Amino acid sequence: MGCKLTKLVSSGSQNPSGRESPPPPPATDSRLPLTAKQKYTVTSSWKAVARALEPTGIYMFVKLFEENAELLNLFTKFRELKTKEEQTNSTALAEHAVKVMQTLDEGIKGLDNMDEFFDYLHQVGASHTKIPGFNRSLFWKIEAPFLEAVSRTLGDRYTENVETIYKLTIKFIIETLIDGYDKVSSDSKS
Ligand code: HEM
Repeated sequence: MGCKLTKLVSSGSQNPSGRESPPPPPATDSRLPLTAKQKYTVTSSWKAVARALEPTGIYMFVKLFEENAELLNLFTKFRELKTKEEQTNSTALAEHAVKVMQTLDEGIKGLDNMDEFFDYLHQVGASHTKIPGFNRSLFWKIEAPFLEAVSRTLGDRYTENVETIYKLTIKFIIETLIDGYDKVSSDSKS
């Protein structure tokens, strides 16, 4: 029975060993800088990060402030948290970290639909034009902390191949946020 079902759902062909070989991956949207296989790797490994959004997000922000202490001043809700310990234990920081991680979660889950991906992340990027003291280049500051946080959460699962794919993915997400940010800035000038 299992075999019949497998045949029904699979469009793969039989190879000489008699086993089913998987169908070739479908072509990806040309705007996505990942192969179908890389997209599969990032979305499947992301599931483990999605189960740990809060600790991953807190670690990411603590790293961000460790490397760029001056950025704390942009955050009115927790700019007074000067030490790593205060930041790690703060509910306000945790809430913000979860919101940002949920945005990344939506983004990564949205890699299957590029129109939705762009619309959503353009809006989030655009929302940063309202933040006093923020500028487009600051988005890049989250790149290294994000990679460090994902690496910590995934542990052994963060192989060299996975790292390469996360680097491409976060770069693509940040570029998309910046495009959304720039679109508002240029619209308001015209
Ligand atoms: C992956 C990149 C980023 C994403 C997805 C992201 C997402 C968000 C979201 C969803 C909010 C709204 C939160 C809310 O409704 O309370 C927000 C607010 C904010 N973001 Fe970002 N952000 C990113 C990068 C950054 C970076 C790098 C900085 C600073 C250098 C930053 C500074 C802020 C500030 C100051 C706010 C306002 C916080 C407040 O309510 O006081 N963001 N961000």
